[in-house]
Parts: sequence; structure tokens; C-alpha cells
Amino acid sequence: MRIAMIGTGYVGLVSGTCFADFGHHVTCVDKDEGKIAALRAGKIPIFEPNLDRLVAENSHGGRLDFTTDLKGPVGEADAVFIAVGTPSRRGDGHADLTYVYAAAREIAAALNGFTVVVTKSTVPVGTGDEVERVIRETRPDVDVAVVSNPEFLREGAAIQDFKHPDRIVVGLTDERAKAVMAEVYRPLYLNQAPMLYTGRRTAELIKYAANAFLATKITFINEVADLCEKVGADVQEVARGIGLDNRIGSKFLHPGPGFGGSCFPKDTLALIKTGQDYAAPLRIVETVQAVNDTRKRAMARKVLAALGGNLRGRTIAVLGLTFKPNTDDLREAPSIPLITALQDMGAKVRAYDPVGMAGAGTEFSGVTFADGPYACAEGADALVIVTEWEQFRALDLEAIKRVMKQPVVIDLRNVYRPAEMAALGFVYDSIGRTRVPE
Ligand SMILES: NC(=O)c1ccc[n+]([C@@H]2O[C@H](COP(=O)([O-])OP(=O)(O)OC[C@H]3O[C@@H](n4cnc5c(N)ncnc54)[C@H](O)[C@@H]3O)[C@@H](O)[C@H]2O)c1
Repeated sequence: MRIAMIGTGYVGLVSGTCFADFGHHVTCVDKDEGKIAALRAGKIPIFEPNLDRLVAENSHGGRLDFTTDLKGPVGEADAVFIAVGTPSRRGDGHADLTYVYAAAREIAAALNGFTVVVTKSTVPVGTGDEVERVIRETRPDVDVAVVSNPEFLREGAAIQDFKHPDRIVVGLTDERAKAVMAEVYRPLYLNQAPMLYTGRRTAELIKYAANAFLATKITFINEVADLCEKVGADVQEVARGIGLDNRIGSKFLHPGPGFGGSCFPKDTLALIKTGQDYAAPLRIVETVQAVNDTRKRAMARKVLAALGGNLRGRTIAVLGLTFKPNTDDLREAPSIPLITALQDMGAKVRAYDPVGMAGAGTEFSGVTFADGPYACAEGADALVIVTEWEQFRALDLEAIKRVMKQPVVIDLRNVYRPAEMAALGFVYDSIGRTRVPE
């Protein structure tokens, strides 16, 4: 199979590389010349574990290449995937489909012979219909089938997720397209990954419903955590106690500073807008979005309380900037509103992140960056763990305590145990558990 991947970001690069690894011939296309030049030189523009090795192997194997020119690869392709960004539209929160429709127009002009055009970007219900209309309007002569194939990979575990998906959702009506999609995913099908064939609109909605449900689970446990703090219960045990019920499941029941990242915030918002447009409002999702929105900044109040109600002139060490571990992605990261709130309260912020600092300069102003967790903690009045990177799970706490001005830790990921932290002499606050010492 020959595949053209339009958009070489987190999803396009991972999907394209994995398809090449299945044995297909893949060309990844992007408008960003710097990105394509870097990839051609063997440099990976994003941080994603093991992606560098897989890109190198498949490039050397002649199955994966990179270009800024869409025309040739689309003309030769059996399947063209659209994996461009669909950010929130400024002003109203609807998904901004400008990039998708622009790509569809360019693809239409380059199509040659029967081709399946697959939307992998997360797009609202009905976008596939519009992509098809745009293509047919641009090129009335083309033989094309437009398919929806939403992506469920998680940054930080993207290759594993792509190669071992819980399911592959494919929305289509055209039987020829079904044969092409079956061939594209054949190696996974052999591994027994369930292929769910459905209508195009249904496939589009499955993606949003999945993300909104996961976001709801996170927000639910976050609110339960707040209640735990008020009533003296332990949210870790509540989460375990409910998660062992198979009907509930233990995943996505980890309390924290609120969900962030490139998907959940924008996808919940876009789904809310779709619901409102169709007079079928999703009240639960609306509440989830509103609750989560205020939570990130509210985390600064924990720091304020732990330091006796005054942050002016205090130095706060922040460990972790990315929205989760194993990615360099800062989009909608909880660290951003949290740090702004700390600064608004008069604090000086020093931060450290294992990979997220490269892009942090543009996101944060007035923050100094340290070159490790201990340098970050040096002379600090409080240390806040915002992202649960592996290296923050086994800090030398005696060393941290020695270098800090005062031993105050606010752990927004519940990485440590309150009793242990109290025994070491820390003032320790976390999420959904009683602050120690009481
Ligand atoms: N990041 C994730 O974890 C994830 C997971 C599942 C689904 N998604 C969805 O996948 C889509 C892509 O997300 P992403 O995180 O990879 O975005 P991204 O911003 O990392 O990458 C998008 C890329 O598309 C390129 N592009 C835009 N228009 C183009 C055009 N006309 N031709 C060629 N290239 C073009 C951009 O230059 C950019 O490199 C979004 O709809 C997102 O919601 C993302």
C-alpha cells in the first residue's frame, strides 16, 4: 500500500512511522519546512519514546520519507490520511477546521485514480461530509471515498498505543474503501485488534464521546478528592475502592491538578458546541469543562495555604511543566495557569522539567529554569510537583530538604505518602488527603 500522511505532528508522524513499520510505503507531508528538513536529517521534532529508532529504521528501509510537496505522494497513494491540527477556534471554542479543509482542497487537486481519503484528525460530526463536498467541488471527476478513522493514541505511549490499540474505529459506506482500510490495518487485525466498522458520523462522534467520558472520569475523582480533604477521607483509597468494581474500572481515577494537553480541553469544548448547535446539550460535559477550567489556577491556593497565606517574595520551585510525563507537549498544561497564579500572588517561580523546558520560554514569562530538581529546590520556600515524571518519584528527599529554605512540599500528583513525608519533617500537602502535620 502507498500512503500519504498529510500533517506530520504528534499523530501524523507516529501513525505514518507505524504504518511504514507495518510494511507500507509512507510519505509524511508537512507545510512546516523546518520540521521536514529536521526529519530528513534524522532529527525528531517531538519527544516521544522510541520514535527516533522507528523513524530511522523505516527511513533506512526505504519505506518512510518526508516532503513539503503534497502533490506527488497524493497522486501515487492508495490512501491519503489527513492528520492536521484541529485547535479550538478563537472566540467560540468550536473546532477550527481551516487546516482540514485547506488540506482537502490541496489533496483534491492532486488525486489520481481511486483513492481513499481518511480523516484521522479529531473532527466534529459532519466534517467528513464537508471534506467530501470540498473534494468533489474542487475536482468533480475524481473517484474518491472519504473515510473517518479517529486516532486514540496517547502522547508518551503513542507507539505502543498505535500498535496495540483497544480498537480501530473506521467510519465508511464504500466497500472498496473498506478493502483498502482492512489492508492498511491488516497487521493489527492479525494481532486481533477489533476493527469497528460504522457510519462516518458515528465514527466522528465516538472519538469525542470517548475523550469526554475520560475527562469526566478525571473530573469526577478530582471533585471527590476535594470532598475527601474536607471530611478526612483518603482519595487514593476511595479511587481503589471504586476502581476495583469492573463496571467502573481503575483507569483515569487519578486525582490531580485538572486535565490538560492537546486533546481533552479542546475536544470537550468542541463536543459541547456541537451539542448546543443540535439542541442536544451535554450538560455533564459542560460542567466537566467548567470545573476543570477553574481547578488549575485554584491549585495555587494550596501553595498559599501551606505557606501561611502570603507568597510575596517567596520562591516556589515547580517540578514538571508538560501536561503529563514522557512528552514535551505544553499545550493547555496545568503548569501554565498555576504558575501565572503563583506569580499573581507575588511569588518568584523557578521550574525544572526533563524535556519540556525547550518550548517553555514562549509559554512562561518571568520564570527561571533550573537544570535539575535539586538545583530547582535550592533555597525555595515550597516545592510543587506538577507532572509525575519518573525521576520525581524517587527524589533524594533528605537532599531536597537540605537545600530548601523550608521543607514544604505540595504534591499535585500524590507521588509520595503523607506519613513518610511527615516522618522526614516535611510540611506536605497533596490531593484528596489530609495535609501533614495536621
Ligand atoms: N496529540 C495527540 O495526542 C492526539 C491524539 C489523538 C488525536 N489527535 C488529533 O490529531 C490531530 C493532529 O494533532 P497533533 O497533535 O498531531 O497536531 P500537531 O499540531 O502536532 O500537528 C499538525 C501538523 O499538521 C501540519 N499541517 C497543517 N496544515 C497542513 C497542510 N495543509 N498540509 C500539510 N501539513 C499541514 C502542521 O504544520 C503540523 O505539523 C488533531 O485533530 C488532534 O485532535 C491528537
